[in-house]
Amino acid sequence: MLKAKIIGPFSQLLTMDNIPLKGSVNDTQLEIILNGGVIVCDGKIVKIGNFDQLCFEVGDLDIERIEKDMVAMPGMIDPHTHICWAGSRAKDYALRLAGKSYLEIAQSGGGIGDTVAKTRTASANELEAMLTQRATNHLLNGITTIEVKSGYCLNTEGEIKLLEVIRNVNQKLPVDLIATCLAAHIKPVDFIGSSTDYLKIVVSELLPEVMKRNLSNRVDIYIDNGAFTKGEARIYLNNAKNLGFDLAVHGEQFQAGGVSLACELSALSVDHLEMVQDQEIKMLAASKVIPIVLPGASLGLGCQFAPARKLLDAGCSLAVGSDWNPGSAPMGDLLLQTAILGIFEKMTMAESLAGITFRAAAALGLTDRGILRNGLLADMIGFPTSDYREILYNQGSLKPSMVWKRGEIVKG
Ligand code: NIG
Ligand code: FE
Repeated sequence: MLKAKIIGPFSQLLTMDNIPLKGSVNDTQLEIILNGGVIVCDGKIVKIGNFDQLCFEVGDLDIERIEKDMVAMPGMIDPHTHICWAGSRAKDYALRLAGKSYLEIAQSGGGIGDTVAKTRTASANELEAMLTQRATNHLLNGITTIEVKSGYCLNTEGEIKLLEVIRNVNQKLPVDLIATCLAAHIKPVDFIGSSTDYLKIVVSELLPEVMKRNLSNRVDIYIDNGAFTKGEARIYLNNAKNLGFDLAVHGEQFQAGGVSLACELSALSVDHLEMVQDQEIKMLAASKVIPIVLPGASLGLGCQFAPARKLLDAGCSLAVGSDWNPGSAPMGDLLLQTAILGIFEKMTMAESLAGITFRAAAALGLTDRGILRNGLLADMIGFPTSDYREILYNQGSLKPSMVWKRGEIVKG
């Protein structure tokens, strides 16, 4: 048992507590504790409140004193990334600037297939080094939990390699990496047979091995032109569900189908939604599926944003992910992307911050983080300001100067 300590005082403690999981949120609903303090023990929050009062109540605890103005909030959670890859797709980006579409580039030898070729030839050590660098970058920017997909090897051996790399980096770094098997990203070019044949092999060969080795309990599938159809995905996801996997879906990026299937199969989340229509929005609002919007993909492709305002007004939850990947979303700055989405979509600060904290946790099925509350993980970040509104106002250029993971300082 570690000794408890008090961290503070913070000019403002933004707890993100008592905000509904679904629907619109006003900034007046944000719980802000002035001159706040947090008591932490064994990586968890034990008590939260006014700093002076906490010091008075619990006398002789160690104090981790904050000497400057600082706003603290829960560590951010990125619920959708593909950061385990090798190579660069700068060439694809140049082609997009010259007017080629994502699909055209994929069909002419670029796209996901190009990253698959490079990631297959990279060694596990090389991939570990690249993932370590990206995950550390995210952590120092205040993201204390990161979902990471496989999906750039697309054969049994290679997908296991990626999931093992994710597991190893998770063990080495203080950040939590939540692994998702995305073997159903596209059918690889060297696979001889139909998409259905490919998915059957994933179900019979890869997924049992992933389960057995405890590498991931989540699967994702990309439903789109050039990827998988809704019908193929239904069979695949049902099989994965029967094996015990939680489900996520890449849906409604360019083509319909993902949202209705995610609702039908009670997926945890459906991600992208740039072209989601009113009927699907209604379905989502009536379901427990959490929409994850990915403004980084809109910025990387030069496409419209997902209709975040409409989703929230219809009563949906809304999480925001970076989609950090070499193709559609190479930037990887979650806070900047959330701020940009917020100003274009007219999301309140409360909605934006909820989307990268506890609503993002819910999208991953995690109930132990995303809120500063007794009993939850002491994953916290501190911004060098006395007013929480500066965080989004600075559109991502104000970075956290302090980061705590399970109560331990990892930056600051
Ligand atoms: O979420 N759209 C499908 N998958 C990724 C992109 C992967 C890539 O282009 O490498 C996405 O945008
Ligand atoms: Fe993605």
